[in-house]
Amino acid sequence: MQIQKVGVIGAGTMGNGIAHVFARGGFSVILCDVEQAFLERGLATIIKNLDREVAKNKITAEDKDSALKRITTVTDRSRLADCDFIVEAATEKFEIKTEIFRDLDQLMKPDVILASNTSSISITKLAALTKRPGKVIGMHFFNPVPVMKLVEVIRGLATSQETFETVRKLAVKLEKTPVEVNDAPGFVSNRVLMPLINEAIYAVMEGVATPEAIDEVFKLGMAHPMGPLTLADFIGLDVCRDIMRVMQEGLGDPKYRPCPLLLKMVDAGWLGRKSGRGFYQY
Ligand code: CAA
Repeated sequence: MQIQKVGVIGAGTMGNGIAHVFARGGFSVILCDVEQAFLERGLATIIKNLDREVAKNKITAEDKDSALKRITTVTDRSRLADCDFIVEAATEKFEIKTEIFRDLDQLMKPDVILASNTSSISITKLAALTKRPGKVIGMHFFNPVPVMKLVEVIRGLATSQETFETVRKLAVKLEKTPVEVNDAPGFVSNRVLMPLINEAIYAVMEGVATPEAIDEVFKLGMAHPMGPLTLADFIGLDVCRDIMRVMQEGLGDPKYRPCPLLLKMVDAGWLGRKSGRGFYQY
């Protein structure tokens, strides 16, 4: 099937970034969220980030205008029914995704692929909620989506080769680099990244060094663009905690337990950049 019209569910940080790259890549995009205010905020972010790309001469002002014209926002999910491809980027809660996948399975034509941008929920489990398990796949983008080159393409147990190939080619069309990964808790990105962040938090908790010092070690010693604690604040400390829990439960190894300081900070509402306070103040 020729993919021209793409439905994106969720207008948050990841969803608006995904809508941005599909629209920039020439696809028509229907961006869907539960409230008009979320859509307006998402669209405002897309405009800001497209302006940033115009200012850097990555795209022209005409490219920006035509990308924006290709995006329609909706609160009514049934308006996605004529899309050729879906990327779900809703809240990382299995119950929320369960409702969405069951509904999409009813709503969408049987040959439409349902991709999830989940960072840790099992693709195999999401696929099993539908009557099209061969057409369910993980398409995991990275924040900021317009900038980061990687798309982790995750095969659930039942994902077909045809589905995998379609998504791989789609990622290339978006000027991203797809990397193939099998379904396992945390996939590859978070399986390796989150224990690094968690260990950095233990180092803070145990007084080994300050957050600033730890971040300097990684920026200057390992050429990371952001140290692990700045990155944790950027991702969101609640998201880091939830991903550690998925790995703790799914892999059963105590090495994946979230650091007590991480749990305490989330309880305090110190979620990082989005709440104004995490390891740093914003
Ligand atoms: N949209 C479009 N362009 C953007 C952008 C956005 N949201 N944010 C930054 N940019 C562009 C800038 O315009 C700039 O472009 P040029 O290189 O052409 O000048 C470039 O990106 C770099 O930006 P800045 O100079 O403003 O800032 P920086 O050099 O500090 O880079 C960063 C910012 C790209 C975020 C960099 O710090 C970085 O790569 N950090 C690590 C990000 C990371 O690890 N992300 C993955 C998180 S994990 C995840 O997403 C998945 C998960 O499951 C948890």
